[in-house]
Amino acid sequence: MSAWCISRYFLGSTVSIIEARRFVTTFLKGWPDVATAELIVSELATNAIRHSASGRFGGRFLVTIRGDAGRLWIAVLDEGGPGRPRIFPEYPDLEGGRGLRIVSEMAAEWGVLGDHRGRTVWASLNDASRAQRQDC
Ligand SMILES: Nc1ncnc2c1ncn2[C@@H]1O[C@H](COP(=O)(O)OP(=O)(O)OP(=O)(O)O)[C@@H](O)[C@H]1O
Ligand SMILES: [Mg+2]
Repeated sequence: MSAWCISRYFLGSTVSIIEARRFVTTFLKGWPDVATAELIVSELATNAIRHSASGRFGGRFLVTIRGDAGRLWIAVLDEGGPGRPRIFPEYPDLEGGRGLRIVSEMAAEWGVLGDHRGRTVWASLNDASRAQRQDC
């Protein structure tokens, strides 16, 4: 069974969140968990813009979705910065702190790669059996 992947850069502005969601839903059309994938990319893209250098003028972020061995992998590569993605304690304040918790609860696994020069925040979903669309 061959893996597939697709990536696209987006400008680091809020309008790109809608575009990133559309990118995922269009590509995964018909896949049973498309709403979860959409929510995940929305949270990760929002974070890239809000919390990393991707949100600066001229910044961008890269969305990758990959299907491999029954797994769907969704990742957002940002342009880094001093802050790190972290899950806040159980009770977030009114300002936020929910996004990564939601992602961690919906995903089979999630994690962070990279450093201040650029971080990839990724989440995987199981049962990508129907997500086989094309070869990489
Ligand atoms: N891509 C990122 N780069 C750097 N820091 C990040 C990144 N994503 C998240 N963080 C850090 O992790 C914290 C938790 O992220 P989370 O998405 O859970 O909450 P939030 O973005 O603050 O609020 P919201 O509930 O609106 O998502 C953020 O406040 C931020 O400090
Ligand atoms: Mg967030």
